[in-house]
Amino acid sequence: MSRHKIGIIGAGNISGIYLEAPAKFANLEIVALADIDLEKARSQAEKYAVPRVCTVDELLAMPEIEAVVNLTIPAAHAEVARATIEAGKHVYNEKPLAIKLEDGQSLLALAKAKGLEVGCAPDTFLGGGLQNARRLLDAGLIGEAVAFHAAMLSRGPERWHPNPEFFYQPGAGPLFDMGPYYLTALVSLLGPIAAVSGFSRASFATRTIGSGEKKGQSIAVNTPTHVTASLELRSGAIGTLTTSFDTHWDKYDTLVLYGSEGTMVLPDPNRFGGSVRVFKEGQWEQIAPLHGFSENSRGIGLSEMFYAHAQQRPPRASGSLALHVLETMHAILQSSAERRAIAVHSQPAQPAALPVGQDESILQ
Ligand SMILES: NC(=O)c1ccc[n+]([C@@H]2O[C@H](COP(=O)([O-])OP(=O)(O)OC[C@H]3O[C@@H](n4cnc5c(N)ncnc54)[C@H](O)[C@@H]3O)[C@@H](O)[C@H]2O)c1
Repeated sequence: MSRHKIGIIGAGNISGIYLEAPAKFANLEIVALADIDLEKARSQAEKYAVPRVCTVDELLAMPEIEAVVNLTIPAAHAEVARATIEAGKHVYNEKPLAIKLEDGQSLLALAKAKGLEVGCAPDTFLGGGLQNARRLLDAGLIGEAVAFHAAMLSRGPERWHPNPEFFYQPGAGPLFDMGPYYLTALVSLLGPIAAVSGFSRASFATRTIGSGEKKGQSIAVNTPTHVTASLELRSGAIGTLTTSFDTHWDKYDTLVLYGSEGTMVLPDPNRFGGSVRVFKEGQWEQIAPLHGFSENSRGIGLSEMFYAHAQQRPPRASGSLALHVLETMHAILQSSAERRAIAVHSQPAQPAALPVGQDESILQ
């Protein structure tokens, strides 16, 4: 199999798992790593044996690079993605696709005009856990979806992340940082979102960094840190999403789907694996995944994007799915500010379920 040559921009916290992706996906090869902080890029390149460390401009000028994986902070996602597309390369962004909705829209339009792909994390919905849920749902195990609830409750990432400032700026907060996992899972399982209403608050004006070189430093909070929303799907199912950096909690069900024939408790959409629990006719049943990719398989969306592009079909972890999620998140905050329900206009196709199987052939 020929490997597609990739450049990675952004050598921070999440880069390690992407740098390991070619060991799991036979169609990927990382040939260069760039970061505005070249020392960081050098240290990661050494650890993961990446052949070249360079500046962003140098990486974008490398003709052999077909796609860039954009692992910069959210505030840089749009700018780096636009430069990548203008350089004639596909781009695969970490979430969120962009901060501003207009930036997300213009990225997709630019890529379309150039015949290039925009892919975007999260790709956890392609893991064994959520694909198992999708298989059972499509088989009618819980009947027609009636309702759902999704939740991500935490006290915030500043305890463990060494550079957590961006989490408390517009374009992050729990909704933009963690919401994409839950919203992408919902759309992949049940189809697009039609309308939302939301409430939000920032419970604490400052946060204190808990680890690394900046331990003890204070961060000013400039975005809502507890957001709760009601969502109406195009299918008619309704439910709630709560995302929080303000709560002390540990064990809860992160995603529950209520159907006409039963209830399904799903594994956490922030992870790739886990079993589904189904409550039907008064009985609980636990059903383990039949698909592979239950371990941390970040990069599966990128690998699938190349197979999809070769076959001229839309990638599953697509820019249009990520744009819908971005529009939904903006609509939730707009609803909270304006105290009214907001329609979500983008209506991407539900990504196709993966066929059952354990290896990369299911992506082809
Ligand atoms: N950390 C996680 O657990 C995690 C998990 C999933 C997704 N993500 C997402 O991955 C992305 C990166 O997160 P992270 O935790 O690795 O952040 P990070 O701050 O650790 O790393 C970001 C890197 O991007 C570099 N950078 C910033 N702007 C740049 C630019 N314009 N050009 C080149 N490099 C630039 C920074 O120097 C830094 O090295 C975010 O979008 C985040 O939402 C993070």
